[in-house]
Amino acid sequence: MKESRSKPNHRANRRSFLMKGVLAAGAATAGAGLLATRLSAVSHGPEEKSGRLTPGDASILRFLAAAEILETDLWQQYNELGGIQDSEVPGGSGSPLYTDALKVLDGDMDQYIHDNTEDELTHEVFINAYLASKGADTVDLDRFHTLPSSKATGAQQIGRLTNIMQLTVDTTWWTRYRSRTKNPDFGDTFPQAIPTLAVGQHPAIPRSDDDLTPSDHIQAIANTAGFHFGTIEQGGTSLYPSLAQRVTNVEVLRIVLSIGPTEAMHFQTWQDKAGNAPALTDPKDPALVFPNLNASPLGGEDFQTNLIMPEPTVFLSRQLPACSIVRPTGTKGAAMGALTFLTAMGLFLGQSKEFFSFMTDLAEDADEARRDVE
Ligand SMILES: [Fe+2]
Ligand SMILES: [Fe+2]
Repeated sequence: MKESRSKPNHRANRRSFLMKGVLAAGAATAGAGLLATRLSAVSHGPEEKSGRLTPGDASILRFLAAAEILETDLWQQYNELGGIQDSEVPGGSGSPLYTDALKVLDGDMDQYIHDNTEDELTHEVFINAYLASKGADTVDLDRFHTLPSSKATGAQQIGRLTNIMQLTVDTTWWTRYRSRTKNPDFGDTFPQAIPTLAVGQHPAIPRSDDDLTPSDHIQAIANTAGFHFGTIEQGGTSLYPSLAQRVTNVEVLRIVLSIGPTEAMHFQTWQDKAGNAPALTDPKDPALVFPNLNASPLGGEDFQTNLIMPEPTVFLSRQLPACSIVRPTGTKGAAMGALTFLTAMGLFLGQSKEFFSFMTDLAEDADEARRDVE
């Protein structure tokens, strides 16, 4: 799916989304209790209302709210089939064979999936509620819940925002966080840990009960999910510090600095679990191969699976000493970069031109935000 470049009447379109957003009670994907905390925002005028926030801060928070809504949507799909379905994260009834395959990576995978899902839901609801509390427009993506659900037993049959059944998963974070000499902020590039996952389209949840067998096939799907978890959460780990550099208000900075590290906690967990994905070839898609990451031709320190903390690397200047850091954290074009990254993985395959116009607009506004001296 290509991003739409033309944006006819995009301001007017976005306007109507922002205005309707908080008025809709919808979102079957969200927890009922949290939904009730969504606040109404009444807005006027040709542009988004920033209320008592600077326009830049409001734009950054709106992009983050949208990103969190999208994260919630994909995590919800994982939780319905492979997590724990309860009052905190309702919806779905679980797929025992998929859940068991995920548990090959770690016996607590269902708990971690549940908790990651709940975290994203609270991020989404909190940021929108904060925007509303400041008289700023909020974000709602309810009208874009148009993508199909998995037909596998255990999934809810509702419209989704994201597609996790045709993913192209970038696994370069595996080598990026293990490199002692390279940093993407310097233009450096990194090899894929799972090259066959980074090409083609792969389901990360069973698309139907046909995907539950043979066992190596559902394991390949669980392995794909295991790497996709890391791919998503390393993105959040970079996005927050990248955008924080352009926040003006100290309280908004506190929000960004307090949510961002939870994305890093997610990422580190998933990095640890991905390393446990068993080596195999998908019997239903022999092009998909999960190698033994500890063996030749991989192996060596770059691939070692017990390296779950960042190796120190070059930061700011090659003249300065190496430092253990999140990477990248460059701030220029960070929001559009995140949107492009999510689009390239196939997460929005099937979404409308309106969706891409709306998201592009939010990202552009966030990237226009500049830190004001108060
Ligand atoms: Fe989040
Ligand atoms: Fe996240």
